[in-house]
Amino acid sequence: MNGSDFTHRVCEAYSKIENPRVNALVQSLIKHLHAYVQENSLTEKEWEFTWDFLARMAKFTHEERNEFLLAADVLGVSQLIEILNHHRPESEVGYALVGPFYRENAPFRARGAAIASDDTAGIRVKIYGKVIDDSTGKPIANAVLDTWQAATNGLYETQDPNQPDMNLRGKFKTDENGNYELVALMPTPYPVPTDGPVGELLKVAHRHPLRPAHIHFIVSASNYETLITQIFVSGDDIVKTDVVFTASDNMMGNFVKENDHYELQYDFQLTLGISTYPEAPIK
Ligand code: BEZ
Ligand code: FE
Repeated sequence: MNGSDFTHRVCEAYSKIENPRVNALVQSLIKHLHAYVQENSLTEKEWEFTWDFLARMAKFTHEERNEFLLAADVLGVSQLIEILNHHRPESEVGYALVGPFYRENAPFRARGAAIASDDTAGIRVKIYGKVIDDSTGKPIANAVLDTWQAATNGLYETQDPNQPDMNLRGKFKTDENGNYELVALMPTPYPVPTDGPVGELLKVAHRHPLRPAHIHFIVSASNYETLITQIFVSGDDIVKTDVVFTASDNMMGNFVKENDHYELQYDFQLTLGISTYPEAPIK
């Protein structure tokens, strides 16, 4: 039996999956996996390395860390899914991968409040602007902005026992004119975790592990598609080599220095549609 007859036989064995979409995805997965093995004439040793690599990824996966999601991120898969699922004009804010550090149930904070505890080190930035309907330009009242960022030591609150619970996370609502305002830290670059198999991959590829400085936002409102995005710092060189291929021109913020802090005016556009919410990698 040659390779392609064999692939056909395996596909046949999975052809009775009732859900048509799942059926198509499984058939396609088998075809592409088999094609990968064939094209590269995978050796037994290489196969052993592969399943051991996956097993080691599983060992690095727990409630607060998902090495599989991180692998998808550094291989460009997560951002590709955003690109394929959201087509917007370049003048609108772009969609970004959610990343492994999003946590649900961040507290609602008052308009203009800080997401950083008072003793969190770092320069503050006041971020303000509007959430608007992208077809009419009209402001959207009661939109929710769910934001999170890393501390200046490069760690999210869940990775750092020295930060209070929910530090650098918070939800804000727009007022009747679609305005929001909050205080965050001036973001700084940080490395993705490199102590696991994904770190090995980056090392052999001679890729740096850095994410450019950014702040995450999920912007939602009823009857609008939820916008998942990140704001980067215009002029930051690392945006060109973002380890997860997310930073792009339609996510740049013009941070302006004002005495001891920065200010950023930034509007978010929403498209009419079904309001959904992403699964949180950290529960
Ligand atoms: C983040 O920005 O939080 C992130 C995204 C992808 C991989 C690692 C971290
Ligand atoms: Fe991040």
